[in-house]
Amino acid sequence: MSNRTLAIIKPDGVRKNIIGKVIAEIEKAGFKVIAMKKMRMTKVAAGEFYGVHKERPFYGELVEFMTSGPVVPMILEKENAVANFRKLIGATDPAQAEEGTIRKLYADSKGENIIHGSDSDENAAIEGNFFFAKQEQHDLV
Ligand code: RTP
Ligand code: MG
Repeated sequence: MSNRTLAIIKPDGVRKNIIGKVIAEIEKAGFKVIAMKKMRMTKVAAGEFYGVHKERPFYGELVEFMTSGPVVPMILEKENAVANFRKLIGATDPAQAEEGTIRKLYADSKGENIIHGSDSDENAAIEGNFFFAKQEQHDLV
């Protein structure tokens, strides 16, 4: 069980000016921010990142959305990070998400749901390397 996961505050979170509120929830839940930046994904990058959903009907819309403005990717650390973080963000559809979860608190719809969390330790490592150079992933403090 790895202690890291990869999160992205999606363009709707940035547009709503709640980067700080979302990070406050993340820190309150005991995660430590290891790496973080604000950047805009290209269509190619977003298409590759969500490549597993290529055949799904919402893929085109998802790529459009993820490239509609800047995002804030972060590597986060806590024990059992992947599962604990997915619990903190709640179900994909905010209408189904538990009270107190980040999606329940801040998301508008299944398509625009504020935040991404890796779904496995293997993908957490792949996604961490997708956004951050090795030297940005050290926690030297
Ligand atoms: P994510 O990968 O972003 O953390 O979300 P997730 O695991 O909860 O959901 P996933 O099935 O991996 O879907 C990835 C993202 O695609 C968008 N989506 N739209 N309109 C739809 O029916 C639909 N279904 C999925 C969402 O932005 C979802 O987070
Ligand atoms: Mg997913």
